[in-house]
Amino acid sequence: MRLPESQVAVLNAASATDEQTIDSLADETGLKPETVTQAAFELRDEGYVAVSEEERVEYDLTDEGREYVEDGLPEVRLYRAAVEAGATEDAVGMGQVIGASGLGGPEVDIALANFGRKGYGQIESGQLSADADADAEDDPESVVLTALEAGEAVVDEGVLEQLVSRNLVERHEQTVRSVTLTEAGVTLLMEGVEAAETVDRLTPEMLTSGEWEDVEFTEYNVEADAPEVNGGKTHILRQTADRVKDVLVGMGFQEMEGPHADADFWINDCLFMPQDHPARTHWDRFALDVPPIEDVPEDLVDRVEDAHRNGVGDDGDGYHSPWSEDFARAIALRGHTTSLSMRYLSGHEVGDLEPPQRYFSVEKVYRNDTLDPTHLLEFYQIEGWVMAEDLSVRDLMGTFEEFYAQFGITDIQFKPHYNPYTEPSFELFGRHPETGELIEIGNSGMFRDEVLEPLGVECDVMAWGLALERLLMLMYGFDDIRDVHGTMSDIELLRETEVLR
Ligand code: PHE
Repeated sequence: MRLPESQVAVLNAASATDEQTIDSLADETGLKPETVTQAAFELRDEGYVAVSEEERVEYDLTDEGREYVEDGLPEVRLYRAAVEAGATEDAVGMGQVIGASGLGGPEVDIALANFGRKGYGQIESGQLSADADADAEDDPESVVLTALEAGEAVVDEGVLEQLVSRNLVERHEQTVRSVTLTEAGVTLLMEGVEAAETVDRLTPEMLTSGEWEDVEFTEYNVEADAPEVNGGKTHILRQTADRVKDVLVGMGFQEMEGPHADADFWINDCLFMPQDHPARTHWDRFALDVPPIEDVPEDLVDRVEDAHRNGVGDDGDGYHSPWSEDFARAIALRGHTTSLSMRYLSGHEVGDLEPPQRYFSVEKVYRNDTLDPTHLLEFYQIEGWVMAEDLSVRDLMGTFEEFYAQFGITDIQFKPHYNPYTEPSFELFGRHPETGELIEIGNSGMFRDEVLEPLGVECDVMAWGLALERLLMLMYGFDDIRDVHGTMSDIELLRETEVLR
């Protein structure tokens, strides 16, 4: 009979005495305890050994416990010093006794507390008296500590618990496995067993030499404990962004790209946002201290300025407020990706566009907001627009219903809203699956003529900006967006959450 080397070693060692623990077998064979355990279980599965398990409690001295085995427990040393100073007759000044005991630092408090608890004497108004009958030399805690240090078994649970609570001893629970030969095992050994070299890997050399026929392969133990490995994975937000892109591409949209830091012209002026609009002050935007943009089409700048000043159409009316080209050319981090929509609609990115057209982006935007469970300073917007003849609000609503249904969200609500650049405008709301609250998930509308005319667009354009993080909250029930991204994110949550398909 041939068995793997480790199994043969364990069999032989186990035959030496009646019962052997994994540790004693490991000592005897020179194998690692894990290897012995595995071999023992394999032998058990073949019926050659029996493995019994017992839960054992072990007590080990802590460093402090070991120190006291050497030096004596502080209260015992205090008692000795007290006896020496004659405190069994008359009370002695506490300072004198402590000085004589050689105790210092935190030991003094430990000594005094336990001295009192054990009834070794009394301490009253700075005077210490010792009880002549106290048997400090046979202090039960000292006795147990010394026994443990010597490796002797201790049965006094009460004292052990006390030592654990004093942090002089640590309690460990352990499963001790013992291995005994079965009759089949004894017979096997008598008949003789040979150790086969075990290999855990098949090599090309073994195949060509034919050696593979003679070796024993280690068995796979698919139930063995293995360390948890947390590999890298795509962030849930990125996974969702990718899925949003797939959905929009599936709906016939093309992707827009463009700068995160852009001219106010594209971020605001093209959108008919008056230059004195509150959102354009330094409070709300992240202005960048860099040279202004150079590359803006002059004729477009002129038409946008004219729309701001005089409005568009026959009965149009502008803001008649100040408009400065320098202001428009200044650079800031974009507060929305509608800057990209302006770049594309104007023909600046991919040339003049003929209807119908559909474009989107899923990109980062930056706002000087206050952080809270639903606001971040950087977040992702799902921007999009459709250019076509004769669009209506029903097209807009239908598009959202189709889009959100792909993510299992079927109860979108619309609320009339105001944007300087769209008319009509709607905010979108969805219900949070955990809290039941309505949360804002987007903003949308039909671009006004004041926006479209300077851009040179002659048909309707419906457009929106949706918050990717809010979509995530509705999909997964997250209630604090800060758990999901940013410096405070919850790593466990991110590890556990799988993107819903
Ligand atoms: N820019 C708007 C926002 O950030 C979203 C929007 C885009 C609204 C296009 C209407 C049209 O809230």
